[in-house]
Amino acid sequence: MTTSIKGDVRDISLSARGKDRIEWAAKDMPVLRLIRERFIKEQPLKGIRVSGCLHITTETANLAITLKAGGADLVLCASNPLSTQDDVAAALVSEYGIPTYAIKGEDEDVYYRHINAVLDHNPQLTMDDGCDLVSTIHTKRKDLIPTIIGGMEETTTGVIRLHSMEKQGVLKFPVLAVNDSDTKHMFDNRYGTGQSSLDAIIRSTNILLAGRTAVVVGYGWCGRGVASRAHGMGSNVIVCEVDPTRALEAVMDGYRVMPILEAAKLGDLFVTVTGDINVLDRAHMEVMKNGAIIANSGHFNDEINITELEKLAVSKRRVRDFVDEYTYADGRQVHLLAEGRLVNLSAAEGHPASVMDMSFANQALAAEYVLQHAKEMEPKVYTLPENLDKEIARLKLHAMGIGFDTLTAEQEAYLSSWESGT
Ligand code: ADE
Repeated sequence: MTTSIKGDVRDISLSARGKDRIEWAAKDMPVLRLIRERFIKEQPLKGIRVSGCLHITTETANLAITLKAGGADLVLCASNPLSTQDDVAAALVSEYGIPTYAIKGEDEDVYYRHINAVLDHNPQLTMDDGCDLVSTIHTKRKDLIPTIIGGMEETTTGVIRLHSMEKQGVLKFPVLAVNDSDTKHMFDNRYGTGQSSLDAIIRSTNILLAGRTAVVVGYGWCGRGVASRAHGMGSNVIVCEVDPTRALEAVMDGYRVMPILEAAKLGDLFVTVTGDINVLDRAHMEVMKNGAIIANSGHFNDEINITELEKLAVSKRRVRDFVDEYTYADGRQVHLLAEGRLVNLSAAEGHPASVMDMSFANQALAAEYVLQHAKEMEPKVYTLPENLDKEIARLKLHAMGIGFDTLTAEQEAYLSSWESGT
């Protein structure tokens, strides 16, 4: 362990535990390991200054180690005030020499101080989870734009923001939407969010899911995952959606679908995964049953209207770690988990390493891709080419020891022909 501390972490003495946990996660990240081995030889990021704003977890640490192994000069900060694993932040600084600015429970001032600290690194590449780096650069740190080659974005919410920046003509450098790779959203968003959200709900409350009515608000990839895992644990699942196709899909997947105002009266547990604001609003919270539990698994903490919940309640107290009990004037109690912040990373450890393996393989390849293709790229949102996405799937299957088939020459020719019919 070195003694010089670069960054801002809760307690550097936690680093040995952090290192053990980072190594534990590494065992389940074989695709990232292969990329790291190649990066060590080829040094694709040599000398490139990278500023990353991601959840500081054991999995992110393995990505950071990979980028550094590829030559990057990397600094990191947290992408959410509650998601930092303090032992990992300590280990990144003292065991791996990666300056890290992240403290679990930091307030908004510290959060933005940390964002500005990583931007002071004068990045050539940005790596975001939720677009906070890119939006800070485009609003308050425009001086940094000329030296930025491009960026990468991890999550749905961030990609939506980038598309809106591109549409308004304000985006000033190319950004690769890692979330849009199939090997990211089909696995991380669905199986990762599905498992880790329920993990967090169970860890923080220890409730039995069997027999309870779980209301899943939003049926994108994350909502599909949460609904399927809650159903698997025996919950009676209701889905609320605004998109008719997704609502129909939820019906045919076997769930009850209804307007949220009706579901609000029936749910024992509510999980928001929409990426939108105030989806659980005063009108819904007013009619909830005594004992209802509310959690958010979307990126930002604005899916639940907490200001209105505070107004509805006559008292509030913390009854367990990550559980706030709100008591209404009529005596009913509603429980909010993790202050409405994304519950899976606040009250548990986020997605398991095995699924982050693919997400972060995409991040590492995206960083390399942006550098290789910067000259052809415009200030737009890009997706990783399909061949790289498929290669990640291939490597993951290989690591899992699972074989699969390839087309015969005859089948390939058939698929590219159009003349033959009945
Ligand atoms: N997002 C969801 N789960 C995560 C994890 N374990 N590490 C980093 N980012 C995440």
